[in-house]
Amino acid sequence: MKISMIVAYGKNWEIGLDNQMLWHISEDFKNFKKITSGHHILMGRKTFESIGKPLPNRTSIVLSKNGFEYEGVHTFCDVKEAFDFARENAEEELFIIGGANIYKTLFLYVDKMYLSEVDFEGEADAYLNEIDFTYWDLIEQKDYEAIIEDDKVKSPAWKFKVYEKRD
Ligand SMILES: NC(=O)c1ccc[n+]([C@@H]2O[C@H](COP(=O)([O-])OP(=O)(O)OC[C@H]3O[C@@H](n4cnc5c(N)ncnc54)[C@H](OP(=O)(O)O)[C@@H]3O)[C@@H](O)[C@H]2O)c1
Repeated sequence: MKISMIVAYGKNWEIGLDNQMLWHISEDFKNFKKITSGHHILMGRKTFESIGKPLPNRTSIVLSKNGFEYEGVHTFCDVKEAFDFARENAEEELFIIGGANIYKTLFLYVDKMYLSEVDFEGEADAYLNEIDFTYWDLIEQKDYEAIIEDDKVKSPAWKFKVYEKRD
């Protein structure tokens, strides 16, 4: 089973504030939905609470050490057990979808990264560790322009990049 990570981050590796996202980019949400649909998605308890419900057409796995429970969600207190659950369900590509804590802890297992680099700088309280791309191959990239309405940035510019770990 391949282990992938999907994340959107700003210029200073910021990913969240007050358990919420820092921007609204509808095309990025659509992309996220398309990429993760049909797959197991693994997240920390705080990210699940920020989303508020299991995402449709995906199998939600939540990591928590405090016995968190929610209908339609599979909760594990151990990462290996969560991976085994997905493997036993014949998953071929498991997606780690955050947040900061989970990306940091599980980065060593990641084989493929789906990254949205957002042209955003601002207040945050959740960050990604800076990624060293030395052992990663860029296999796909698409650049998106900002959306401006009434002279205001409605949605910032962003670059979508896919990397695979070199063997
Ligand atoms: N930009 C993006 O792409 C993106 C994506 C996702 C999330 N985010 C942002 O990230 C922020 C949330 O990140 P966060 O670091 O605060 O929280 P988080 O990683 O979502 O969740 C942390 C919680 O997960 C559980 N956990 C973590 N490691 C575990 C382990 N090894 N085993 C078992 N349980 C474990 C613990 O839950 P218990 O306390 O219940 O034990 C911990 O409190 C929010 O601002 C959110 O908006 C951004």
